[in-house]
Amino acid sequence: MATEALAFDSVDAYYGESLVLHRVSFVLEEGALLGLIGRNGAGKSTCMNVAVGLLPARQGAIRLYGEPITQLPPETIAARGIALVPQARRIFKSLTVAEHLLIAAQAPREPTHEPWTPETVYAAFPRLHERRKHFAGSLSGGEQQMLAIGRALVSNPRVLLMDEPSEGLAPQIVADVMKTISQLKDQGLSIVLVEQNAKLVLDIADDVVVLNTGRVAVRERAEALQKTGVDLSEHLGVF
Ligand SMILES: Nc1ncnc2c1ncn2[C@@H]1O[C@H](COP(=O)(O)OP(=O)(O)OP(=O)(O)O)[C@@H](O)[C@H]1O
Ligand SMILES: [Mg+2]
Repeated sequence: MATEALAFDSVDAYYGESLVLHRVSFVLEEGALLGLIGRNGAGKSTCMNVAVGLLPARQGAIRLYGEPITQLPPETIAARGIALVPQARRIFKSLTVAEHLLIAAQAPREPTHEPWTPETVYAAFPRLHERRKHFAGSLSGGEQQMLAIGRALVSNPRVLLMDEPSEGLAPQIVADVMKTISQLKDQGLSIVLVEQNAKLVLDIADDVVVLNTGRVAVRERAEALQKTGVDLSEHLGVF
């Protein structure tokens, strides 16, 4: 049986008194890529924020490799091995590329795979190497996205969460970012990819979860969705 890397088990979450996630359940298997899709405001980023402890789940459980992490503070969850590439990247404009990577670097928990270091990130993203002494605020949108991904990788996570990494990028850059994500999956990383563009997700995901107004509307293998040509348009915006 596949090992469960990250699981949401009937999770409810609120902003103040407003219910934003309702009984959300899904499983990310080890080494798999789970695509989380849904229209604006469906609750995708909220799921990511709950997973990393920025917003507490009010009900239900979240497990990382079988261990409950539901009420742990964000720094403990990060130390246990979940890294988030946040929507809108949240880089520090007045730090250089190299400083971002140095600050985020952490040794891996299990020394089973080649660890990510600033050097291996530079090898994967030569453009970041060229611009390592530049302030992050002066990078292009695509370069900032690469930096946000690189910063998550040097923490050597067991689970990588990516919240709309293609947002605001030109199509060619989106293609590069998707290629990078698929290479990370090929290297065995367990990934949740949040996207609005279902097509991008179906191409590289193993499993797909569609959120609609805070509820799981569809949970399927990507292959099955492609084969049956299921129409997801009722759950997604028009693009
Ligand atoms: N900090 C907040 N305080 C109150 N409500 C919020 C907050 N953040 C998000 N919401 C609301 O929660 C709901 C889910 O938002 P969320 O950001 O999770 O959606 P999303 O699926 O990530 O959308 P998008 O594709 O636009 O990023 C929305 O109705 C949103 O308005
Ligand atoms: Mg979002």
